[in-house]
Amino acid sequence: MKPPGKKSPEQLRSHHWYGTDGLRSFSHRARTRQLGYLPEEHLGKPVVAILNTWSDINPCHVHLRDRAQAVKRGVWQAGGFPLEFPVSTLSETFQKPTPMLYRNLLAMETEELLRSYPVDGAVLMGGCDKSTPALLMGAASAGLPAVFVPAGPMLPGHWRGETLGSGTDMWKYWDDRRAGVIGDCEMQELESGLARSPGHCMTMGTASTLTAAAEALGVTVPGASSIPAVDSGHDRMAAKAGMTIVELVHKGRKLSDVLTAEAFQDAVTTVLGLGGSTNAVIHLIAMARRAGVELTLDDFDRVARTVPVLANVRPGGRTYLMEDFHFAGGLPGFLSRIPDLLRLERPTVCHDTLREQIAGARVHDDDVIRPRGNPVAPEGGVAVLRGNLCPDGAVIKHIAAAPHLLRHTGPAVVFDDYRQMQRTIDDPALDITADSVLVLRNAGPKGGPGMPEYGMLPLPEHLLKQGVRDMVRISDARMSGTSYGTCVLHIAPESYVGGPLALVRTGDLITLDVENRTLRLEVDDAELARRRARWTPPPVRHERGYGALYHDQITQADTGCDFEFLARPGAVRDPYAG
Ligand code: FES
Repeated sequence: MKPPGKKSPEQLRSHHWYGTDGLRSFSHRARTRQLGYLPEEHLGKPVVAILNTWSDINPCHVHLRDRAQAVKRGVWQAGGFPLEFPVSTLSETFQKPTPMLYRNLLAMETEELLRSYPVDGAVLMGGCDKSTPALLMGAASAGLPAVFVPAGPMLPGHWRGETLGSGTDMWKYWDDRRAGVIGDCEMQELESGLARSPGHCMTMGTASTLTAAAEALGVTVPGASSIPAVDSGHDRMAAKAGMTIVELVHKGRKLSDVLTAEAFQDAVTTVLGLGGSTNAVIHLIAMARRAGVELTLDDFDRVARTVPVLANVRPGGRTYLMEDFHFAGGLPGFLSRIPDLLRLERPTVCHDTLREQIAGARVHDDDVIRPRGNPVAPEGGVAVLRGNLCPDGAVIKHIAAAPHLLRHTGPAVVFDDYRQMQRTIDDPALDITADSVLVLRNAGPKGGPGMPEYGMLPLPEHLLKQGVRDMVRISDARMSGTSYGTCVLHIAPESYVGGPLALVRTGDLITLDVENRTLRLEVDDAELARRRARWTPPPVRHERGYGALYHDQITQADTGCDFEFLARPGAVRDPYAG
């Protein structure tokens, strides 16, 4: 007799590995004895795979090795059988040219691992930028129940009485060094002050934006996304995630039951209301497509016009960091400020409705999570641009840009690739002024390759020394969520495949008009057609290996940069079935 509300052993997917009367099951049981487990410890229990992106090279995930023990504790206590699987780590700081090149590889690894092993449900442990979408994309395609455990932000940085934000202050002080404002001695001190504990970047960068999006989607324990990585509450949250996944297996609630169109609309609302990273646009579109939901750039722009930015967290906000956001109420507090903009009747991993999940949530500090009447910005933080330079769209985080540049016409200074830009940006012969528009091409999904975060192009040293701190910059690259400036990003189609960005010449006038959502190259169509006739594609970046697969399969930014064959709907045979 199975207890009410629980699956019987025969109803579990893992039963096909362990419970049938055949040679294979006999072998699997024998090998589990070899692992040191008694039959009564695991037979008939939901098998939970804990996918852990821990690694010695990844400071954002270095605590996840320990944290997996708390997840296991929760799984055991709820009557499950936990098994930890190491998976690829995507470290934003160390992986070149960019971990974005490998997001889809981790997604494939996640999907195939969950499908091929005796798994009933999964706990996904990640947080450093690309790991969140990669794990969720793979788990969505695998079609099993899953819970996400966000790595949590690191503690705030400190230097000489100032609070430092990841990335944001690194760029700021690097520019100060180039401008001669500070020297090597200060930089050495900053090295020890910027990142002082395990955990992901503690600004509202890509990591915090995406873990918040995961919480808004409903795939984490409530309040999980802002718990500092080293807070003991993070252990408790991990244990709760372990308990939750066992319940989800018994309920039969798959990740795809939670990742609905309504959930993605709420995630878009959340990202924009947090003033989050532009990277979220690409990743949410990719995740949605894996869940069979059509999400477009236009959804972001439409929602952006209706959602105020309420999170006063750097770099979109002025003042605070993720620890402040957490103690001000975290994501439940933030969501409690916008219930009329949410779809409250949809399920989450912990509750039957989002309404139940955020019932009782409150904001404890109105300066960190602003009331609707006193927003950080009246509109969402990201605008989608169209025009003859970006027929398939481009994005700008206008709340992190200098207001006087949001409507600007200036002459282009074109760099054909990142290395050329690095070599020549300070060359006086380029005659760059504060009115110039810096253009970087061949930095998109195929051209980068991997669409590296080159989009916040450095300003020329002579302008920094004159006190210039922002200019219009446009590219087919991405930008770190911790970056800032008037940077137009994700231009699609990218220049490498012949998008109009490939046709721009130094001296051409470019007009950016954020209010009207346009980006225009002020060159007539006949001249552009002449340039196009003479354009030749750059050489292929990878001729073999994973890079060649990536080149063949990667889609453009406006459709999420997934692989064609992974985004495509279609049945996949579950191995236990045959
Ligand atoms: Fe990992 Fe920023 S480097 S989140």
